[in-house]
Amino acid sequence: MVFTIQVNNREIEARKGETILEALRRAGFEVPTLCNMKDFTPTGACRMCVVEVEGRQELVPSCSHHVEEWMKISTHSPRVIKARRTITELLLSNHPDDCLYCEKNGNCELQKIAEEMHIRERKIPGSPAFIRPDRSSPGLTREPAKCILCGRCVRVCEEIQQVATLDFIYSGSSIKVSPAFDRELNFSNCIQCGQCLLVCPTGALTGKVSFTELENKLHDTSATVVAHYSPSVPLLLAEKFRLKPSVNASGVLKAVLSKLGFDRVFESAFGTEVFIMEEAALLLQRIRNNEYLPVISSACPAWVSFAETEFPDLLPYLSTCRSPQQMASTLAKVHIAEEETIKKPETIYTVAISPCTARKYESRKPELTRKGLPDTDLAISITELFQLIRLYGLDPLLAESEAMPQGLRSMTSAGKLSDISGGITEGVIRTFYSMATGKDLKEYRIEKLRNHKSRRDYTLKAGNHEYRFAVLSGFAMLPTLIEEIRSGTCNLHYVEIMACPGGCVGGGGQPSAPSQQILRQRIKDTFEYEEKEIMKCAHRSPEITELYEKKLDKPGSKKAMELLHTHFTACNIYAKE
Ligand code: SF4
Ligand code: SF4
Ligand code: FES
Repeated sequence: MVFTIQVNNREIEARKGETILEALRRAGFEVPTLCNMKDFTPTGACRMCVVEVEGRQELVPSCSHHVEEWMKISTHSPRVIKARRTITELLLSNHPDDCLYCEKNGNCELQKIAEEMHIRERKIPGSPAFIRPDRSSPGLTREPAKCILCGRCVRVCEEIQQVATLDFIYSGSSIKVSPAFDRELNFSNCIQCGQCLLVCPTGALTGKVSFTELENKLHDTSATVVAHYSPSVPLLLAEKFRLKPSVNASGVLKAVLSKLGFDRVFESAFGTEVFIMEEAALLLQRIRNNEYLPVISSACPAWVSFAETEFPDLLPYLSTCRSPQQMASTLAKVHIAEEETIKKPETIYTVAISPCTARKYESRKPELTRKGLPDTDLAISITELFQLIRLYGLDPLLAESEAMPQGLRSMTSAGKLSDISGGITEGVIRTFYSMATGKDLKEYRIEKLRNHKSRRDYTLKAGNHEYRFAVLSGFAMLPTLIEEIRSGTCNLHYVEIMACPGGCVGGGGQPSAPSQQILRQRIKDTFEYEEKEIMKCAHRSPEITELYEKKLDKPGSKKAMELLHTHFTACNIYAKE
């Protein structure tokens, strides 16, 4: 039912059942919010969104009150502004004053509101608490002193990610948001997906920045610095710098990275193509031997971390394939050392660029090193890449697109689907079908895997056989799947699990949380891009064929197992300290 309400003496349309805030925003009225998040039940915790409703004595939080037909609302009356200013001043009364040094400077919602309220001094005396920042985690920094207790991270961690690392602990004036038992993040069950830092309005949760080490390497003439980037990096670069659709964003990114001083640049999608070859061979082998089915993909390090911490009994089901990024780094080290006859492998420095905060943790895992050297020396997020571009004053709009050199070149669309949920599975199905039947699939597009549901299922028919695949986007459907596997009722052959809803395109290592609309556009762009590629299957890439012929023999060979596979270890977080 649609009716009319009055806002600031103007009539606007409102819909029965919606909140005042929703009606206001649709009509173009701006109201500041802090605790509110779209698609979550409002908590009314911060009261920043209050408005004045004629006939009501109290100011009303617009995010949690529904519209009613008779309402006359003021969004910026003197009383409303006074209340919002007082709330802001209270929040600032014990907030650290180090905006200049804060990771969120310029991108902080509290700073923006304080600026809009024209607050220029600490009006309410308080003592900014010094609470030691928690830098224990490889991917995230937590600064409890900057927490305004809005609860957004708690809700995302529990309701969306189902990990429940962060929660309110203690009560009264001691209340705070922290991992259980007030422990540091690295000693908790945090999987480092970074979804919490996408929603944190202040600098209380931010991604780790690893500039210094990278800058030193970029200026070290004895080092060969190699970058490889995930498929969504050019996509987000184009979004951020508003590149025209006709511009080759990948070529621009390559040019920008060369200007930053990287000696070699290639697409992590090459690693994904190798990953697909290994994953498909592993799946076929497990089906033939009837062992540990379903194969559960281990491409997402946050999911692997979750499994190692919470579901150790499932570890034998995990695919032993290293993630596409790890494979890309490993192959870069091997290939470049051979190609450029580099005698000292330690002088090759590989940097993986992706929207993922969990990759930093992954790159430090001892099992992903060889002879004491990590395969990925550094994982940086897209946020860090954008900061580097600013630091060096580069303008991607002026960069001349550069072509990728031969060697480690991704030549198929299968490799470029990996950043969207279901993309890896589509790639694996194409190659698995070919390995199982000796023929190529006629229809490479798998529409049943291309919707936005939390779980999608698909049955592949190959001759007289049926193979069942499932894709989990986020962990919403994980408890059911685990129950099926544990009870022996799971009839799947392969499962892909990505921690971030929508896949890496929604990863925590980007400057701000993408809306559902933006997320869907990124997924659409990825599929449109796929249509333009001539080769759709990893096993059809001449570079992949050559790699196996010259270096790896065949998927699952002794050499491939040694270089491209790993193992998993159950992790007891309570024994970590
Ligand atoms: S850490 Fe950030 S998101 Fe979480 S409660 Fe504090 S301010 Fe809100
Ligand atoms: S879904 Fe992608 S971005 Fe998110 S944690 Fe997993 S690998 Fe990282
Ligand atoms: S945004 Fe409405 S109460 Fe916080």
